[in-house]
Amino acid sequence: MITKNRIQQAEEALQQTKESMNERFRLGYHIMAPANWINDPNGLVQYKGEYHVFYQHHPYDENWGPMHWGHVKSKDLVHWEHLPIALAPGDVCDSDGCFSGSAVDNDGELTLIYTGHHYTDKEKDIFYQNQNIAVSTDGVTFEKVGENPVIAAPPEDSTHHFRDPKVWKHEDSWYMILGNQSIEEQSGRVILYKSSNLRKWEYIGVLAQSDGSHGFMWECPDFFELDGKYVLMLSPQGMEADGDNYNNLYQTGYFIGDYNYETNQFKHGSFIELDHGHDFYAVQTFLDDKGRRIAIGWMDMWEADMPTKKDGWCGALTLPRELKLTSDNKILMNPVEELILLRELEHDVCSNKSISESYLVEEKGDLLEVQVVFDLEQTTASAVGLKIKGEKEEETVLSFQLAEQKLTLDCSKSGKKEDGIRRTLLESNNKISFRVFIDRSSIEVFANEGQTTMTSRIYPTEGRVGIELFAEGGEAFVADCTYWNLKDVWK
Ligand code: FRU
Repeated sequence: MITKNRIQQAEEALQQTKESMNERFRLGYHIMAPANWINDPNGLVQYKGEYHVFYQHHPYDENWGPMHWGHVKSKDLVHWEHLPIALAPGDVCDSDGCFSGSAVDNDGELTLIYTGHHYTDKEKDIFYQNQNIAVSTDGVTFEKVGENPVIAAPPEDSTHHFRDPKVWKHEDSWYMILGNQSIEEQSGRVILYKSSNLRKWEYIGVLAQSDGSHGFMWECPDFFELDGKYVLMLSPQGMEADGDNYNNLYQTGYFIGDYNYETNQFKHGSFIELDHGHDFYAVQTFLDDKGRRIAIGWMDMWEADMPTKKDGWCGALTLPRELKLTSDNKILMNPVEELILLRELEHDVCSNKSISESYLVEEKGDLLEVQVVFDLEQTTASAVGLKIKGEKEEETVLSFQLAEQKLTLDCSKSGKKEDGIRRTLLESNNKISFRVFIDRSSIEVFANEGQTTMTSRIYPTEGRVGIELFAEGGEAFVADCTYWNLKDVWK
């Protein structure tokens, strides 16, 4: 079948599912597919002045399957518009899936670089992977090029895990990194290729490799300069949990260091986890025309309980977040400034107010941004925080434990019964600020101006009664609390 028909067929399948979809958990201001399954963000790029985001998509089912590339675009990173599916699998170069990849603007030609997935024995999950290209000049319809696959096979010292190309330009050359696994150590690594024309690629070598403690495979790598340093972001599979760290099935994090293009030497520090919630994976970034490094992740986790499958859809992407580097080489992640466009009604709850036990703000809305600043110098409580409260039992609780300097997100009473709690260290310096985005079935927490973030899906079933500020074992001094009802951009 020719690609166009495959895309039409997939669009029809989406349309059908859409008609019977249960909307209860649909998000109001996050990127989702019109219906059915999505995972990783792909091909983040600005093209002809608009932001384009693609995503791994199975338009025929609420479960993962033969991967297509779904597509949305936006002028402001806030209001998104669905475009037709960009890539459908089934050609010789991508017989069983168009896996994750990236996009570049090659002098007006929007170029997608993606992995072709091929089963040799599907039952036993035996497969091979290659790298391919598709191009467009209108930013809507894409042609797979005749030269595909542009990289047919991995280097000899590699297993069959060979995917997720991230391409960028440096001086006059194109570079591509790929997630990969070495045969000898059976561990994750990132390998590098170089090209002058995006079609012919030369293998350069290994850019970074696990020291044995970073899992068996590295997925979705990204490599970029940030405030004078180089950052390698990646999603390792198979890291052991270590106290509060690496508690999800798979991880997302980064190494920071210095890089030499001449020698392909990347000297870096230790691995740092990027987000401390339950549902954050396969993050990708791009540089926009304002010079911002913007990251978007998949807001779910492999093998997690995903109750929206029953509703005819599954998966979403995180809010776009701007990255900055601190002087001690840690990444700060904050919502892009355009997100204030979501704000509708503003509510000034209180400022400079001492609360003991609890202070309830009645608010039934489920699309909210809440900002709270606690002054800890004037706080006697052992823990302070906020709860998003349901009518009966349900609540999502964000709290800070002063003695331990720990931030805790507890979703065990909002749909994550089994493994509801995530915790992480947060240096308070006598002040704790939370910026929290609630969107029906998601919560994203930016603490202390992006020092720590926590991203989780929640699945409340009761109506909401409000936002409760609370103090445990004493009083909490609230320097400021403001919240906004947010707009549903899909309506
Ligand atoms: C990451 C990942 C990628 C792969 C894609 C397949 O979540 O496993 O490595 O390309 O998903 O959908």
